[in-house]
Amino acid sequence: MPQELSLWDILRSPSSYEELEQLEPWLYACSQGDNLFPIICNTPLIQPDTDQYIRQYGEAILKAMALFENHEECSDWFKKRYSPLSFQDMPMVDTLIEGEGFPGFMDQINLPSFLVPFQMDNTEDLVFDIVGKHHPGLGLDLGCGQGGMTYRMSRICTRVIGVDNHFFLAALANKHMAATEIGFQYYDPLTGTNTGSVSKKPVDNVQIICADVTALPFSEPVFDWVHIGHLIDLIDHPEELLTHIMKILKPGGTLSVATPMDFEQVGHLDEFVAILNEDFTCTHCEESMPWIRYNHKRRWVIHEDWIWIGKLRKQVK
Ligand SMILES: C[S@@+](CC[C@H](N)C(=O)[O-])C[C@H]1O[C@@H](n2cnc3c(N)ncnc32)[C@H](O)[C@@H]1O
Repeated sequence: MPQELSLWDILRSPSSYEELEQLEPWLYACSQGDNLFPIICNTPLIQPDTDQYIRQYGEAILKAMALFENHEECSDWFKKRYSPLSFQDMPMVDTLIEGEGFPGFMDQINLPSFLVPFQMDNTEDLVFDIVGKHHPGLGLDLGCGQGGMTYRMSRICTRVIGVDNHFFLAALANKHMAATEIGFQYYDPLTGTNTGSVSKKPVDNVQIICADVTALPFSEPVFDWVHIGHLIDLIDHPEELLTHIMKILKPGGTLSVATPMDFEQVGHLDEFVAILNEDFTCTHCEESMPWIRYNHKRRWVIHEDWIWIGKLRKQVK
């Protein structure tokens, strides 16, 4: 991404939110033309319907603000504006262990002996090693969670944008990017609760945004590398996401997909696979299979991933 191009140059604006002009002092806004987005905990909240999103994820936003910014006044504002907030709406997230997914995290965990024979590297390291050789410019990490892969990508990309629709995770990812250390706490069935930490370099070439991948705020072919980690199995129409990625990936740009996919059971991925075969050149095959099957340890289980890496042949209009 050329240095002079900002995130706001490539965002496709959803709609304008006039009421955000009446901002409380703690709720920062970023404007681009007529469009305003709230930025909370350094995280732009870019959803087609921000009001509806805040109602749904209000608790995640409050929790993030309470943890990452000291804005007690915000809860009054939220309640006044969105009350009654339903605090049952906090969605379950897979990655509740802070720091999970960052390099070095697994080294800190005492694993049971039956996991020892399995690879220690995780999927993100494998994808990073393969794609990293191509030196991509602008990267996009879809469903970035707390940002472990986004962080890896930042080491070889000029700039990276991480996208997650869960506000707490997006804010956590933002916090992690600037941090020099990530402290974590995990539960081990044998030894109980443990704590640890991993060191990391602070990075400033990453922007995390809170948005839904099914309504991505990008429309131009600007990305050199798009990564989708453990997400396509969670969305209803992965083929629609793929078609959109083909509009925003540069021709020759790299797509990497990692998913715990079961080819036999997950019929809704058939169309996804057909588009991959039609429009991308798979660059990594294993025993003539276009998907790399990868068994590794993750937390305390053996995690089976399928990894697909390829290049876009030509752009979809
Ligand atoms: C299983 S986690 C994977 C996190 C990380 N990419 C990894 O590989 O470890 C799935 C992530 O996708 C996010 N997610 C799920 N549906 C999404 C959507 N429609 N738009 C954006 N993010 C989504 C979740 O909040 C979660 O952080």
